[in-house]
Amino acid sequence: MCPLRNKLLLVTFLTYYSVFLLPVQTCNPSVAPEKPRPITDTIDDSSNDDLESEGDDSKEAFTDIEDQDILCQGYEPKPTQQILPKAVIFGTRKGGTRALLEFLNMHSLIRRSKPEIHFYDKHYAKGVEWYISQMPFMSEGQIGMEKTPGYFHTPSVPKRMYETKNDTKLLLIIRDPVKRMISDYNQFVYNNLNDGESYPAIETFLLTEDGEINANYPPLKRSIYHKHMANWLEYFPLKQMYIIDGDKFIKEPWSEVAEVEKFLDLPAEVGKDNFYFNQTKGFYCGKEIIENVNSQWTCTRNKCLSKSKGRKPPKLKDDLLQRLYDFMEPHNEIFFNMINRSDIVWNRP
Ligand code: A3P
Repeated sequence: MCPLRNKLLLVTFLTYYSVFLLPVQTCNPSVAPEKPRPITDTIDDSSNDDLESEGDDSKEAFTDIEDQDILCQGYEPKPTQQILPKAVIFGTRKGGTRALLEFLNMHSLIRRSKPEIHFYDKHYAKGVEWYISQMPFMSEGQIGMEKTPGYFHTPSVPKRMYETKNDTKLLLIIRDPVKRMISDYNQFVYNNLNDGESYPAIETFLLTEDGEINANYPPLKRSIYHKHMANWLEYFPLKQMYIIDGDKFIKEPWSEVAEVEKFLDLPAEVGKDNFYFNQTKGFYCGKEIIENVNSQWTCTRNKCLSKSKGRKPPKLKDDLLQRLYDFMEPHNEIFFNMINRSDIVWNRP
């Protein structure tokens, strides 16, 4: 049977399981199972509450196997060292950064910081030792990763990162800039709702008194990708970045994860089998499969992001939407030329 730390734990978890009936981690023999035996743990990452503070979505982080009391037989993590992250997801806000980080963390050689560290934009004065202390413990051969979406649009960050670790591998996930901007606005709506307050309609921010598109609206400015990218290219060459098409990532996360594995020189490990589509949520969720070399058991853990990721967007009038796409078009063109990509397609609705 699947090993438990001791009998007491077994009894406790069996009771827990039978009460809540929410098994999202299962432990199964990899060879000809007679009967599938669900492991008695309840890790329901999809039940995280909907609160998300402005700068920290670490509640969205999936529970790691190291956090669990129940471990698969033969699975003995020995994380020993904290080091600077080899790779950083540096944007974009609402681009899909949390899903990307959590899906990449299913790779056995990647360990990520759950919270957004905000070292380069908010805590730089605390020094590099502080930054390192925020990283998870890693085993030999593993690489560290963090995501702080605010880095992308904070002008001081590229220089600071270059001076701290100029070989940092950079991951940027971008969505259709109009959709990203609406999602950015929507986050303010929900944060206010969570505080019991209403929030003005998006048109209030998007249009000037003369009815023009308000190019100074911060969520809109954050979607003018080439302006921010220009700052980064002053310090880092394009070949040190991998730019993920966030809209494609929503539809086929495994394809983009495979590209990132290559970019990070990691063995291909996370594949289509590591994902399943959650109809209710309308997004893919992760399915982490942990195999044991010394035993016939594998553990499977299903993990979805919560309600604060994949929110219903507000409906904009069609003419305003078309004007926003018109506004963005020349900016997108500059951006695509800058990053030398012609494969990303942002279709108008
Ligand atoms: P919406 O909530 O507007 O749909 P971030 O993590 O950077 O804040 O990005 C949040 C966005 O990630 C969500 O925006 C959603 O579209 C996108 N996303 C991508 N893959 C997802 C997934 N598998 N589950 C939930 N959201 C996902």
